[in-house]
Amino acid sequence: MRKNYFLLALAMVLPVLMMAENAASPTPAVLPRPAEMTVGTGRFLLKNKMKMSIPSYPGDSIKTVAEAFAHTLEHTTGLRLASTDKEKKAHIRLALDAQLPAEGYRLQVSAADVRIEASKPAGFFYAFQTLKQLLPCNVMAEQPDPSVKTWSLPVVLITDAPRFGWRGFMLDEGRHFFGKEEVKRVLDMMATYKMNRFHWHLTEDQGWRLEIPKYPRLTEIGANRNSRVLGWGDTKPDGQPYSGHYTRSDIQEIVAYARERFIEIMPEIDIPGHSQAAVAAYPTELACDPEVPHEVWLWQGVSTDVINVANPKAVQFAKDIIDELIELFPFGYIHMGGDECPTQKWEKNEACRAQLAALGSTNFRDLQINFYKQLQDYILSKPADRQRKLVFWNEVLHGNTDRLHKDNITIMAWVGADPAALETARRGMDNILSPQIPYYINRRQAAGPDEPRSQGHGTETVKAVYDYEPARNVAPELLPRYTGVQANFWTEWVEEPSVLEYLMLPRLAAVAEAGWTPQNLRNYEDFLQRIRRNAPLYDLRGWNYGKHVMK
Ligand code: ACM
Repeated sequence: MRKNYFLLALAMVLPVLMMAENAASPTPAVLPRPAEMTVGTGRFLLKNKMKMSIPSYPGDSIKTVAEAFAHTLEHTTGLRLASTDKEKKAHIRLALDAQLPAEGYRLQVSAADVRIEASKPAGFFYAFQTLKQLLPCNVMAEQPDPSVKTWSLPVVLITDAPRFGWRGFMLDEGRHFFGKEEVKRVLDMMATYKMNRFHWHLTEDQGWRLEIPKYPRLTEIGANRNSRVLGWGDTKPDGQPYSGHYTRSDIQEIVAYARERFIEIMPEIDIPGHSQAAVAAYPTELACDPEVPHEVWLWQGVSTDVINVANPKAVQFAKDIIDELIELFPFGYIHMGGDECPTQKWEKNEACRAQLAALGSTNFRDLQINFYKQLQDYILSKPADRQRKLVFWNEVLHGNTDRLHKDNITIMAWVGADPAALETARRGMDNILSPQIPYYINRRQAAGPDEPRSQGHGTETVKAVYDYEPARNVAPELLPRYTGVQANFWTEWVEEPSVLEYLMLPRLAAVAEAGWTPQNLRNYEDFLQRIRRNAPLYDLRGWNYGKHVMK
């Protein structure tokens, strides 16, 4: 009798306690904001030795995703989660739903259990990323927190899928080299916010960062220079030896690390402009004027020392590089650069002038297009699994892109980004929006003397980045050409990983949300409330960030 009274009292009190707990905990800070989320009352209490049922899937990659979550859970909370064949006995049930989009998921947390549905491994991965964001932040940080005594999830129903398939971040390692461990940290930041494309800018006038066995001088010469800082204005080269590059095994390791986080890596070999380091390494094959000395550049800006596209050896060089990229990077896209390619040296070069005349053009930009056409034909002559689509910066639109196979081309729009993206779509090619203002997140994120030295005046604030609207006022028939968004990070002024991170965060999350969340749900104040609750995550991870935004 006494026991029954106790149970009755408990039954009356418990919902009140739960409501109190719910009232105390604000709407979960899921980032990017899900397409649909309803928070109910009550919580699901996580226990030790829970069971999880996992549907079978070719290659067992859903199992890999689920087991990675179980591993994180045990490491960070001490709670064991084992898989079971008996769905009815499971506390966490995973199920396939072919109706859901490739990266979409449904996550249903009740007081009794958790159900996750998706059609592909990526969807399950994103569901678990969301689930981790519903738990104390040490879980997303992959670190134990002994001060937390009970682990619970809010009752919630989330039906989610990204707005865009391309949610990218680009890192320039040509100007400054950060190395494997820092790149992995960047990939972790991206995965936190469900970003899925790492664009790796590996070559520049100031450094070639990728080992190519057939052209050893690219790294023996092209990866080294005699200055850490890059000269600009009053800043002069400092004479300090500076170098760094990735070996093939480094690349394989990083590609695998990214893939575990559902991030594909697109390498960029920026040719024929921004290539002075390659020209310095192989002047006979690549220079327009091989008779004069060439060195890896010590300055910022746009070098005129571009590759001689009319030299068949330069075309062969580019084909050989492409072969190596196909070997190392399984992703279906390669970026060939194409930005800021001065034509002065071509204009003075006999072979270049003859080639332009043979093309029946007077526009020197068409020499660049003709160079790309040879490379594209080469790629399209390969078996299907070795073919790659090509991505270019939007200056390529100044040439006659009708000479190229446009189905296989994506234009990354940075300068005059919105009109360039529209022109791309009108010409029948896909685009990616990476507007210099405000998506170049290497630019200062605030004004004031405490900001690290970088480009810009501090007007690319978190709010400015957040408030950019991708594909605004675009006609519905052109919208399918808008494949996504990307933040870019150029490193002329950025030498230290801590500065890289400071400038990236939290602006990376603002771009991630533009890539994921429907425009009508995007609201800066709401974002600010959620992003501020990521400060402890950044602290636990040891990621540097713009603290002025997070207070
Ligand atoms: C670029 O910013 N030069 C693509």
